[in-house]
Amino acid sequence: MARRKKIYEGKAKILYEGPEPGTIVQYFKDDATAFNAEKKDVIDGKGVLNNRLSEYFMNGLAQIGVPTHFIKSLNMREQLVRQAEIIPLEVIVRNYAAGTMSKRLGIDEGTQLPRPIVEYCYKDDSLGDPLVSEEHIAAFGWASQQDMDDILSLALRVNDFLSGVMFGVGIKLVDFKIEIGRVFEGDFQRLIVADEISPDSCRLWDIETGQKLDKDVFRRDLGSLTDAYTEVAKRLGVLPQSSTPITKPTLIN
Ligand SMILES: Nc1ncnc2c1ncn2[C@@H]1O[C@H](COP(=O)(O)OP(=O)(O)O)[C@@H](O)[C@H]1O
Ligand SMILES: [Mg+2]
Repeated sequence: MARRKKIYEGKAKILYEGPEPGTIVQYFKDDATAFNAEKKDVIDGKGVLNNRLSEYFMNGLAQIGVPTHFIKSLNMREQLVRQAEIIPLEVIVRNYAAGTMSKRLGIDEGTQLPRPIVEYCYKDDSLGDPLVSEEHIAAFGWASQQDMDDILSLALRVNDFLSGVMFGVGIKLVDFKIEIGRVFEGDFQRLIVADEISPDSCRLWDIETGQKLDKDVFRRDLGSLTDAYTEVAKRLGVLPQSSTPITKPTLIN
């Protein structure tokens, strides 16, 4: 079999050249990193869960008319996506204070915000993805004013969709991060939701118990990350209710 060309290897995924121009294959690894990769581990089955969950959310978004990069699922760990020019921003939407916002502004984690707050961080690991304002984004030419209007509207639509889906299965969407890419269609450019939407990029709390079902379980050593992600997948019907967490293959005698 011909060897595929690797385009990029990041912290959580590997990108390969896709079968047609303008497509790429996203391979979801089991690697978990936090605090700008200072904390690292390999979590059995995480890649499989995130691949399936991201597919689920991207498909749902497409159904309500939000454009995404997702084309089709290829296998347990891989999906075919549209290649996009990634805008170098992490677009964060917060419904409740948590994480860096709580630290920065001294607001208790879990405090409901007066309205969803959208923040932008410059995507650069060596700088620790610093928070930037729209002034920086415009002055450095990372995105135009029209792009920023579109990004805000995409971010809020994703928030409404994800909040609703999560609420339906007893989960509070505290915050999440997305990446936006540009695709070109003839003379026009369009912005689409790219990268991934998964418990790696969201904060998800059980509504009843407050139990964390996202990457904070890994960041803060709160138990099994695979169990947490499996719980999210089961509630959403992405995994059969009865399935056990995905682990290494076992021999059947
Ligand atoms: N549709 C797309 N087209 C091109 N690049 C993409 C697309 N979706 C995601 N990416 C990029 O692929 C990489 C995914 O790998 P990841 O492990 O998340 O990387 P990182 O460590 O940089 O976050 C990211 O750099 C992301 O910006
Ligand atoms: Mg990433």
